[in-house]
Amino acid sequence: MMPGDGSGTVTGTAITRHKGGPNPARPRRRRRRAAGRGGSLRVLFTSSSSSSMPVDRVSASPQWAAFDAAYFQSYSHVGIHEEMIKDHVRTDTYRTAIMRLQNFISGKVVIDVGCGTGILSIFCALAGAKRVYAVEASDIAVQANEVVKTNNLSDKVIVLHGRVEEVTIEEKVDVIISEWMGYMLVYESMLGSVIFARDKWLKPGGLILPSHATLYMAPVTHSDRYSESIDFWRDVYGIDMSAMLPLAKQCAFEEPSVETITGENVLTWPSVVKYVDCYNVSAQELEIITAKYRFESMMRAPLHGFAFWFDVEFNGPAMFSNSHMNDLYSHDSSQSKRKEAIVLSTAPEDAPTHWQQTLLYFFDPIDLQQDQVIEGSVTLSQSQENPRFLNIHLEYSSGGRSFVKQSVMR
Ligand SMILES: C[S@@+](CC[C@H](N)C(=O)[O-])C[C@H]1O[C@@H](n2cnc3c(N)ncnc32)[C@H](O)[C@@H]1O
Repeated sequence: MMPGDGSGTVTGTAITRHKGGPNPARPRRRRRRAAGRGGSLRVLFTSSSSSSMPVDRVSASPQWAAFDAAYFQSYSHVGIHEEMIKDHVRTDTYRTAIMRLQNFISGKVVIDVGCGTGILSIFCALAGAKRVYAVEASDIAVQANEVVKTNNLSDKVIVLHGRVEEVTIEEKVDVIISEWMGYMLVYESMLGSVIFARDKWLKPGGLILPSHATLYMAPVTHSDRYSESIDFWRDVYGIDMSAMLPLAKQCAFEEPSVETITGENVLTWPSVVKYVDCYNVSAQELEIITAKYRFESMMRAPLHGFAFWFDVEFNGPAMFSNSHMNDLYSHDSSQSKRKEAIVLSTAPEDAPTHWQQTLLYFFDPIDLQQDQVIEGSVTLSQSQENPRFLNIHLEYSSGGRSFVKQSVMR
C-alpha cells in the first residue's frame, strides 16, 4: 500500500513485510588496510555465496550473484554506515545540497538509490518531498525502516528492501539522489544502478543529485612514505636487510593504497581522467575509462607515483553551465566551480573525507627536474574476475624511460 496520496503502487520486498533483524550468523565485515599504511577500504568483498539477496537481473550468472551477495553483506554492518555518516564533509554537503535545492524537491517524488540507514531519504523528506522511495539491497534496510518510523516519516519515506534493478515503483519520479561514489570514483561500480534508475523512472527535466562528477590524477612525491616502507630495510639494527627490498616494494606498492596526502605532495596541477554528467552517462561508457595525461613537474623532486581523487557537484537545472569543461581545464577549476555549485571534494588540498586519496606508487621513484615532462595513459576497467573490482593499467614515461604498471583494486 502506498502512503500519502495513494498514487502509484509499490511491489517487491517492501520493508514493512520484512521480519527480524540481520542474521547474526553472518560474518562481520572484515576491514582491511590497503597496501602499506593506507586506510581501510570502504567495502570489502568476501567470497561468500550464501545469501538471500536476489540475483542480478542484468547479469544473472552465479558469479555475479555471489559477488553481489558479498558486496551487500558488507553494507549490512553498522560500522560502514557509521564511518560514512561521521564523514561530516560528505554528509553535510549532501544535506546542504538538498536544502539549497529544496525548490526542486519540495512536493516532489524522490528515489534514494542505496539508502543505507535512510539518512539522505530523511533529509529529502525534511526538505518537503511528497514521497521518497528509499531503496536498499542490504539488510541495513531493516534499520532504515525503523529510523523512518521513529522519526514519524513513514507516510513519506517508503523503504524498499531489494536491488534497485528489481524493485517495482509504479510512478515516475522528479528526483534521484544517491551516494554511489567509490574510491577513484568508480570502484564498486554503483553508478550503473543510478543510471538504471534514471532510465527507468526519472521524468524528463528531473533532478539527479549529485549531477556531475570528475576524477582527477596528479603526480606525487612522498619520500617519507617511501622511506618508511622501503628504505627502512637497508639498515635494520645495523644489519643490511636490503634483500627484503623486492618483497617490500611488492607488498607496499603492488596494490592501490587509500591514504591521505596533502597539497604539498602534489607536483603539479591535476589532469582530468573522467568527467561524468550523470544525466547523460551510459553504463557502457563506465566499463572502460581511458585517459591520456601530460604533466610538467613544477619542482625538482623524486616522483613516487600518482594520486587520484574526485569531486561531485550538486547542480540544479538552472545551474548547468556549458563553461564547465573549460573550468575543469583552467587551473583554478576548484575555485570557479565553487562559486556556482555545491561541490563535495576529496582533493588533497581540501578537508579530508573517508575516501581519502588513492595512490598508485611506483616500485622505484623517478628523479624529476623542474619542468620535466611525465606523460602516459591510464585505463580503469571493470574486472572480469568481479565487475565491482577495478583493473588499473598505468603507462608512464619520463626522461626517456617508459614503464607499465598494472594493478587491481579489490
Ligand atoms: C555508499 S552507501 C550510501 C548509504 C546512504 N545513502 C548514505 O548516504 O549514508 C551505498 C548503499 O547503496 C546500497 N546499494 C548499492 N547498490 C545498490 C543497488 N543496486 N540496489 C539497492 N541498494 C544498493 C549499498 O548496500 C549501500 O548501503
